[in-house]
Parts: sequence; structure tokens; C-alpha cells
Amino acid sequence: MPLVPMRILLDHAAENDYGLAAFNVNNMEQIQAIMEAAVETDSPVIVQASRGARQYSNDAYLRHLMLAAAELHPNLPIAMHQDHGNSPETCMSAIEQNFTSVMMDGSLEADGKTPASYDYNVDVTRKVVEAAHAKGVTVEGELGCLGGIEDGHGAGLTGEEAMKHLTDPAQAEDFCAKTGVDALAVAIGTSHGAYKFTKKPTGDVLVMSVIEEIHKRLPNTHLVMHGSSSVPKELLDIINQYGGEMGETYGVPIEEIQRGIKHGVRKVNVDTDNRLAMTGAIRKVFATKKGEFDPRKYLGPAREAMKQECIKRMTAFGQAGKAGKIKAKSCKEMIDFYKRAK
Ligand code: G3H
Ligand code: 13P
Ligand code: ZN
Repeated sequence: MPLVPMRILLDHAAENDYGLAAFNVNNMEQIQAIMEAAVETDSPVIVQASRGARQYSNDAYLRHLMLAAAELHPNLPIAMHQDHGNSPETCMSAIEQNFTSVMMDGSLEADGKTPASYDYNVDVTRKVVEAAHAKGVTVEGELGCLGGIEDGHGAGLTGEEAMKHLTDPAQAEDFCAKTGVDALAVAIGTSHGAYKFTKKPTGDVLVMSVIEEIHKRLPNTHLVMHGSSSVPKELLDIINQYGGEMGETYGVPIEEIQRGIKHGVRKVNVDTDNRLAMTGAIRKVFATKKGEFDPRKYLGPAREAMKQECIKRMTAFGQAGKAGKIKAKSCKEMIDFYKRAK
């Protein structure tokens, strides 16, 4: 099956009340881990690449790795998504590289750091929607700013500052009407990376009520949670047991994500948990088999550790068992869908 537009997966998730994990990738082992987890759980797949990932792996490698995933797994619907596109140019170059979905993150200016004005966000996002929908490609926008910074992307807001940039539900309504996005990433107090919360988050720092309010106003818009790694203690413990130095930290509890899914969240971005799982597995090999120097002997366990995290998320979010039930459509078929919706 060729890669499918992400909208198909989001619509199916909305019709059947479940969420989809969107996992970040940078290399072959990570793509394999996701695909193996999807095979084992019969899950539809969203793979996403940041700008940093595209630079690191090179577009051509990434494109061919995704083609390999599709060729090897013809029964699984797979969407390939640009994570945090910083400009229309980035989004258009992703579409040229076979991505079937793009995020225009106009919550920040093109430098990927400065919180942007609302008008700027509407303007760039609308431009991307127009161009992407003409090719049947899905678009995610973002309103409000997340905390933290990842690989140069992010306003670097502290937890406290991020609370001033939560998504305004009334503005979300206006934003979706003006831009026509398929999905909206919302800011609810999460941040990228491992250091999200200093204790298990309560409703004053992880403001799930914002999601509920937005979903009431926009019941047909697919909501996206970023910065949604759960940062499991057992993964931190493995890293620290084998020589790492991760401080005490807390992520987004799975039950809070499940609460979001009940209120319109259809895409849940997870990168950090997989990074932690791979790092722990590699550290373990390095610490316990000091003579080992074959990369397969540590990349293999890293891939397996990531696969297990993906299986847990796919199961918890409800996408497990759904792949075979989705009627795939091509980007070409989506062009008519968007024309009709105008
Ligand atoms: O946006 C955050 C993701 O974790 C991607 O991170 O930009 O370091 O690839 P990255
Ligand atoms: P985490 O850092 O919580 O995994 O978030 C990833 C993300 O939001 C990618 O866009
Ligand atoms: Zn993100």
C-alpha cells in the first residue's frame, strides 16, 4: 500500500474513538521498531520527521526507508508527516519528498524560536493548507506555544512562561475557520524533551480542561497533543543504572492522554520515550559487555526496546487492532475530497 494521507487515519480514529501515536524517526532502526510494533498490534502508523531529522538522515534516505516500510507492510496504512515545519517552504519540500502530511507550526516564526503573532500564524498556515490540500496532503497547525526546546526548535519557555501561551479556545475556533487545517496542535502545559514536570502533573500545570473546552467548540477538528512522552521511571532507572545521569522528572501520564482521547485528541506525539528506551538499551550493552563493538549488538537491543514502547503506546491509545479496518485512500483521492469541502 502506498503511504496514505494522515487525514484518513485521523478520521477513522475520530469515528471509532481512539488516538494514534505519532513517533519521531531519524534512522532505519527507529522506522523498523515502529513497523514491527504495528505488525504485532495491527496498528495504523504515523511516522514523523522533524527538520533536524531530515537533515540528519538526509531526505533521500528517509524517503527510501519509508518506501521500504510500505513495500514490506502492504496491509498497514502508513502516513509520513513533517513534524514542526517552520515555514511553507519546509512543508512544500516535505511534500516533494513523499510526505503525506505536514505540520505548519506558525506558532513560532520561521526561526523556530520566536513566538509569532496570531495574524502571522493564520497567514502561513492558510498558505500551506491551500497548497497541500491541492495535492491531497493533510495539514496540522499549532496554536499556542509549548515549553522547552528541541534541537533548535521551540521558544525555550519555562513551565511557568508556557502557561501564558496556552491555546485560547475561542481563538482556536477562529483559527480553524480561517485556515481550514485538518488537525490542530494545542498548548496545554506540556513541553518537548525529558524534563516536563518536577512532580506528577496535576491540572494546574497539565491543563487538560483546555482540550475539553476546545473539543466542545470544535467537535470535528482533530486535536494533537505534542510533548506527550510519559517519561516512565523504569526507563530513567535503566539509563541511570548503567552510568547515565538523568535527573528526577515526570512526563504526561498515559491516563491523561487517554482522557484527551475521549475529548477529541487523535494524534499523540511521542519522541522522548523512544529516545530513553534506546539509550537505556545501548548503555546496558556498553556497561555489561565491554568488549562488544558490533553495532548490531547494541542497535538491535535499542530497536527492540523502542518497539516495546511503541507497542505500549499503540495499545494504550486504542489504535491496536485498527489497521485492517481502515479503507485506505490515496492523496489523489483526497484532492476531490478537499475540493468538495470548499
Ligand atoms: O519536536 C520535537 C521532536 O522531539 C523532534 O525533536 O527536533 O530533536 O528531532 P528533534
Ligand atoms: P516528546 O518530547 O514529549 O516526546 O514530544 C515529541 C513531540 O511533540 C514531537 O513533535
Ligand atoms: Zn512537538
